[in-house]
Amino acid sequence: MDIQSAELSRDSLYAPLSRLIRRDDWERLYADDIEAILKLKKERNAVILAHNYQTPEIFHGISDIRGDSLALAREAQNLDADVIVMAGVHFMAETAKLMNPTKTVLIPDEMAGCSLAESITAENVREMKRRYPGVPVVTYVNSTAEVKSETDVCCTSGNAKKVVESLGVPRVIMIPDEFLARNIQNETGIEMLTWPGHCEVHERFTPQEIRQYRRMHPGVTVIAHPECPPEVVAEADYSGSTANMISYVAEQKPEKVLLVTECSMSDNLATLNPATEFVRPCNLCPHMKRITLSGIRKALENMETKVTIPPELEARARASVERMLAI
Ligand code: 13P
Ligand code: SF4
Repeated sequence: MDIQSAELSRDSLYAPLSRLIRRDDWERLYADDIEAILKLKKERNAVILAHNYQTPEIFHGISDIRGDSLALAREAQNLDADVIVMAGVHFMAETAKLMNPTKTVLIPDEMAGCSLAESITAENVREMKRRYPGVPVVTYVNSTAEVKSETDVCCTSGNAKKVVESLGVPRVIMIPDEFLARNIQNETGIEMLTWPGHCEVHERFTPQEIRQYRRMHPGVTVIAHPECPPEVVAEADYSGSTANMISYVAEQKPEKVLLVTECSMSDNLATLNPATEFVRPCNLCPHMKRITLSGIRKALENMETKVTIPPELEARARASVERMLAI
């Protein structure tokens, strides 16, 4: 590549981040890793899937497919690259592997977990099934393959209402997110038998905090993720998955918005919606933040860490995700 076209390609790589970071900082902190990753992607025939909570240099800088948990699961199904890199947490990489088992799926940091996935074991689910025989088990996709293998159908925050309603029953076991289950119970009137698992990011928001933001920012539109406690969702103008939040802001174009969710959402959305002012209550997900540009570069250089699913769980775990995608 000649010097002029190298400059042009650097300009286009920097452009989506220009509202968030100064050019000299971008050059110093990110440019080398971004260029190396783009080159490695070609060499390895790899695609990078990024969850909406990834930092802007990953989200806008190097990812091929961006989305909420539902979109990432769906997209993983149809990829024909040799390698899938999950810029997200472990359960998302596991779901991608379930959906596309012949591909090499890499997670740049194996320790990128989730407080919800870690809150429950397969034995806990079996115990609930023994206690409530015949009641269908709906499991949030934020769970391990082992737990999914004990599940009738998975759901995400983007389709939980639809999945639960599709069962046509008056009560379901909905695990492991107690708040999501209670929020869906409030929306549908269907009784939820829940598990005391919480997202460590969303459980920290309080109704008092939301009211205080409203006092400080009159007219602000409040959008809460359904992993928030129901008392927080009750204070919001709208509640939805991260993908639904993105469409809501793009379509409604609020003047000022407060996204009651993980910090990177506002950063990523601010670049796409320059006319909207983002009020930023900031709760970081420490698991999502384990994924970095240098970690992704190493993952592609060393082809590590490969995600595997124990063969005895694979078929049943996959079936629970496939049932969800079919609804
Ligand atoms: P969604 O992106 O599916 O709304 O999920 C949020 C989340 O916490 C994923 O870990
Ligand atoms: Fe898990 Fe919450 Fe982090 Fe999502 S934001 S990965 S639900 S801890």
